[in-house]
Amino acid sequence: MSSVKLSAPSSLWIGGGRPLTRRAAFPPEIRRVAAVIRAGSYTDELVRTAKTIASPGRGILAIDESNATCGKRLASIGLDNTESNRQAYRQLLLTTPGLGEYISGAILFEETLYQSTTYGKKFVECLNEQKIMPGIKVDKGLVPLPGSNNETWCQGLDGLASRCAEYYKQGARFAKWRTVVSIPCGPSALAVKEAAWGLARYAAIAQDNGLVPIVEPEILLDGDHAIERTLEVAENVWSEVFYYLAENNVLFEGILLKPSMVTPGAEHKEKASPEIIAKYTLTMLKRRVPPAVPGIMFLSGGQSEVEATLNLNAMNQSPNPWHVSFSYARALQNTVLKTWQGRPENAEAARKALLIRAKANSTAQLGQYSGEGETDDAKKGMFQKGYTY
Ligand code: 13P
Repeated sequence: MSSVKLSAPSSLWIGGGRPLTRRAAFPPEIRRVAAVIRAGSYTDELVRTAKTIASPGRGILAIDESNATCGKRLASIGLDNTESNRQAYRQLLLTTPGLGEYISGAILFEETLYQSTTYGKKFVECLNEQKIMPGIKVDKGLVPLPGSNNETWCQGLDGLASRCAEYYKQGARFAKWRTVVSIPCGPSALAVKEAAWGLARYAAIAQDNGLVPIVEPEILLDGDHAIERTLEVAENVWSEVFYYLAENNVLFEGILLKPSMVTPGAEHKEKASPEIIAKYTLTMLKRRVPPAVPGIMFLSGGQSEVEATLNLNAMNQSPNPWHVSFSYARALQNTVLKTWQGRPENAEAARKALLIRAKANSTAQLGQYSGEGETDDAKKGMFQKGYTY
């Protein structure tokens, strides 16, 4: 029997060019062994965590805005971007009684994961009490991608394993990495590959440290293209993402996806109905996403609160191979912020507004949302050109 060498050939791809030799590098038996080792001791827990987050009638509240982005939100209601104002806002959201009925996970920024309420209770504890899983944004944001069409790539792989291990100790059970793809900028083959490779490396590292990775290649709404073009780009992006997830031996049962819905560009001359968006989005997902993946948790991407809920509802009009739900930031928080205005006397009304949105999306996850009784504020679009998170 010929002996098998485990060392990688010198041509093994590490992130820059086409991974032509990767598949050929290791014989199938070694690749299988690697998969078993990689899933490691966290396998059962990862599967349980992902299933719990993807449970009927529930979705994710994303409040992982970086300090800079949170500052913009606070500025919109006239508040300074101080740690105590960020704490007050997150406290309002995370201590809303009854939230756990509709929300299964909350994505936090690092500051919030380590923070407590003003009365000294860890935010993680507040979440656990409501059976909401704490999650953590682990990417380090977007920077220009040299050699591309003015596109970006997402930083954060350096030191990621030790950060994930530390976040797990703090109580986080899932992670998020958001990279973006721009249709008006191409997207270039380089940007798509870089996005997919980064997501796959991150996912493998997160799983290795007990965190379920949310895989989020956001296809920005920017552009005047038709919905067919978005479908084409989304299919390309997700095929690359799954290629590299498999190459990195990521356990599909222990991940969650956070895709953009397939819509026309925000500046396209015609708007699409929820039924058309659902049709295109589900076509893309069925062509690209294996049924082993437990949950598809959409981002809202600048849609109005009501649009995001109507579109989710349309996707749940017939059974899907996966739990199809929400992981919204703007589409869960917009009315809440406007209602709150940073005033303690508005806190109760703001919490009510959060529960209204959370319940509406929970109903949409079950395919039973009617769209009745929504306010004009909730119908206002939130698209911003070149939005950063
Ligand atoms: P929205 O597009 O729903 O605002 O959120 C994006 C995101 O990645 C939040 O985690």
